Amino acid sequence: MTDGYAERVRRLSALRGCDTVLSGARPPSVVEQLDTIRAAASDELLPDFYGEGGAVEAVERRVADLLGTEAAAFFPSGTMAQQVAMRYGAEVTGRSAVGLHPLSHPLVHERDAYAVLGGLRAVLTTAAPRNPTAEEVAALDEPVGTLLLELPLRDAGFVLPTWDELVAVVGAARNRGARVHLDGARIWESTVHLGRSLAEIAALADTVYVSFYKSLGGHAGAVLAGPADLVRYARAWRHRYGGTVFQQWPAALAALAGLDRELPRLAGYVGHAKVVAAALAGLPGARVYPAPPHTHQFRLWLPHPAGALNDANLALAEEEKAWFVGGWQDTEVPGLAMAEVTVAGPATELDADQVVELGGRFLRRVRTA
Ligand SMILES: Cc1ncc(COP(=O)(O)O)c(C=O)c1O
Repeated sequence: MTDGYAERVRRLSALRGCDTVLSGARPPSVVEQLDTIRAAASDELLPDFYGEGGAVEAVERRVADLLGTEAAAFFPSGTMAQQVAMRYGAEVTGRSAVGLHPLSHPLVHERDAYAVLGGLRAVLTTAAPRNPTAEEVAALDEPVGTLLLELPLRDAGFVLPTWDELVAVVGAARNRGARVHLDGARIWESTVHLGRSLAEIAALADTVYVSFYKSLGGHAGAVLAGPADLVRYARAWRHRYGGTVFQQWPAALAALAGLDRELPRLAGYVGHAKVVAAALAGLPGARVYPAPPHTHQFRLWLPHPAGALNDANLALAEEEKAWFVGGWQDTEVPGLAMAEVTVAGPATELDADQVVELGGRFLRRVRTA
């Protein structure tokens, strides 16, 4: 076991033992996850076979219905699904360039797979910490085959455009002959800020990728949704990338459970995130962004080193069974750290006063450390 994994296990065990959790959710054990997928299965359900049938097909149908697309293909990861979507865009337009935000997942977290494996080239859409505007896309120096929009843009603070801005940027991409792909890893909770249904949002784009293990709490896995011809292509390339796995029913059942259980709750989390963010913004030296949050996730800054904040959070969890916020990272400003806050089920049990009280207890530990 690496030191990093041992530390992670310590944090997860502490979080599981907490009576109060502000950010995130208590991680289920493997046995609890088995119970969840058992409950999502029926006695007649047979295992899928290399991507066909069973729970995998059920998730594909469910997502295609929710997004209003002709078809959908299950993938082991979003990293793989999006490479296929970008490759498709390049093949049908004859343009190997992809419009990507410098903070987008393919550019920050995928070891340049789109370029190294896909032979594609990035054209940066904007330097601003948000998805590009219609004007920025209209003014791109080079034509792109696909414009990828990440909804919400996680590494900029889970920020979304407004609906009108989204419609406009999609129009600008089309005017330039580009296809539009949505990185919808967190599209589920984006409906609230955009004020539109999943199907209305998906209808703007040519292809949409969704994830099951972020807001929905599944095991892993993704779906790439769009027209039937794209999905046939996606199945062929999924095979080449090694993603047509013999059986994927555990991940598919967990995805179905997440769609049943968490999807209907997300709008409530988004509403409560506004209450939590406002309460946190009142802590000494705190900043939150965006204010109010666009989804149930946002960024929080506190004027302390990340190490001190992580230590205080772990001590609070282990000694008082209360979890404030974990995952602090130092910023460019010495002594100022940032963390992502996720308002999920456990945080809905806390009102603004309780958030402030918990924050006060947390900060006292930081100061006395
Ligand atoms: C915005 C976004 N896109 C894509 C991915 C890739 O998903 P996966 O981990 O399934 O490859 C992630 C994962 O964190 C993500 O946050």
